[in-house]
Amino acid sequence: MQETVHVSLGDRSYDVEIGPDLIATAGARIAPLLSRPRVSVLTDETVAGLHLDALRDGLSAAGIEMSSLALPPGETTKRWPQFERAVEWLLAEKVERRDIVVALGGGVIGDLAGFAAAVLRRGVRFVQIPTSLLAQVDSSVGGKTGINAPQGKNLIGAFHQPSLVLADTAILNSLPPRDFLAGYGEVVKYGLLGDAAFFDWLEQNGPALAQGDMAARVQAVTRSVQMKADIVARDETEQGDRALLNLGHTFCHALESATGYGPRLLHGEGVAIGCALAFELSSRLGLCAQEDPSRVRAHLRAMGMKTDLADIEGDLPDADALLDLMAQDKKVIDGQLRFILARGIGDAFVTSDVPRDGVRKLLQDALAAR
Ligand code: GLY
Repeated sequence: MQETVHVSLGDRSYDVEIGPDLIATAGARIAPLLSRPRVSVLTDETVAGLHLDALRDGLSAAGIEMSSLALPPGETTKRWPQFERAVEWLLAEKVERRDIVVALGGGVIGDLAGFAAAVLRRGVRFVQIPTSLLAQVDSSVGGKTGINAPQGKNLIGAFHQPSLVLADTAILNSLPPRDFLAGYGEVVKYGLLGDAAFFDWLEQNGPALAQGDMAARVQAVTRSVQMKADIVARDETEQGDRALLNLGHTFCHALESATGYGPRLLHGEGVAIGCALAFELSSRLGLCAQEDPSRVRAHLRAMGMKTDLADIEGDLPDADALLDLMAQDKKVIDGQLRFILARGIGDAFVTSDVPRDGVRKLLQDALAAR
């Protein structure tokens, strides 16, 4: 039960290997990349407690030594102080140009470690071992690396592709259900943006997948990664099509900002709500069938996910304040908000041609339903 997706980027191409228990054979998988048998692993304290011994065993089975630094868990790690600590630790470990840095963790560690690898000695290679569903289907693939600034998320960073991604689907068993479902928001996004048959499949198989069906997990991660790989191969640095991967994210980023990037709203939960809002907006603009937003919401609800603004606890700003937060989005060009809208399930497109009043009314109605 193992799949491989190739990310085709010329001399920066790499494989994403997907399946259960890959960590046990991580050494044999990483060995061909090494010029000497040692790696430096960046992780977080929670993941280290759960998976670092297994990684050490998997590496030593192939004669590879490992040193590690565990950073505090959580989004606040993705700032200059922990980044500086990570880079200086890698230098103290005497990591050389031809060595490999390993990122063992979720999106925070993958982004920070990838950026550290991008700038260390003007660029060393790195391997992603993503431990959250969100990181397996999104952030570990495609080479976006970076940290947050006081002005916003991911504003400091670089495109730096990994040399290998090991998506061990058995590791997902250790995720709290809420984190698993938040990652599932990104999985649903792929069906919604470009593959109606995959969305149909998720409607049928989503519940089994959430309950631990490993074959279904491997299939869902593989299809998601394949879609991302195809888009990244076409548009590595997001000059066009790659923006499709941001379906639901314009709304999501405003909601995350309004809720403080914390436990009130996880990123994947915001993506799910954002996808539902993007389909509602598309329907109101006459772009897709009226049934489509209801179908999107019905699936998210069936999975027990957050679906509407009403599912976010506590106060939210009014519609104009949310619109102002959207204007901080990285996708804004010349002051014009860009949205990912849809002509139907599996048929998304990027547009700047969205009337602000239509978005305001959508948000007002969604806030009034709380
Ligand atoms: N997470 C969106 C992207 O990688 O482009």
